[in-house]
Amino acid sequence: MILGILSLFLLVQCGEQASPAAEPAVGSQPSFAAIQRAYTMKCSLCHGRDGKLMASKAPDLSLSTMTLEERVAIITYGKGTMPPQKGILDANTIRGVAAYIEEFRD
Ligand code: HEC
Repeated sequence: MILGILSLFLLVQCGEQASPAAEPAVGSQPSFAAIQRAYTMKCSLCHGRDGKLMASKAPDLSLSTMTLEERVAIITYGKGTMPPQKGILDANTIRGVAAYIEEFRD
């Protein structure tokens, strides 16, 4: 009985130790939810939830052929009517959003 409780306790201890290692260090990498939220708030107005809205002359992101670095640059510095995100979204979130929108490609 005591052994049972002890091993259960050890299992719980191990479980607690394993979980923080699976998570990225706090502050270094935004979560997927945070990236989606940033896209919804800052981008979907023109590009839409699936990248195909094309409001305010925005191109269809599902047809974009830009590389990740080109997307990071246009998101950071903006272009034409597209507003720059530098100083609004942090660099890791910009990179995360740039990677996220590639999922819109057909
Ligand atoms: C006010 C409307 C508007 C908002 C908000 C906006 N964009 Fe844009 N976006 C545009 C326009 C317009 C262009 C075309 C710019 C040009 O080439 O002159 C563009 C171009 C792009 C391109 C280049 C596509 C290609 O292959 O040519 C990407 C990638 C992009 N936007 C991503 C984003 C992301 C990510 C966000 C949110 C951080 C965002 N945009 C917010 C209007 C917008």
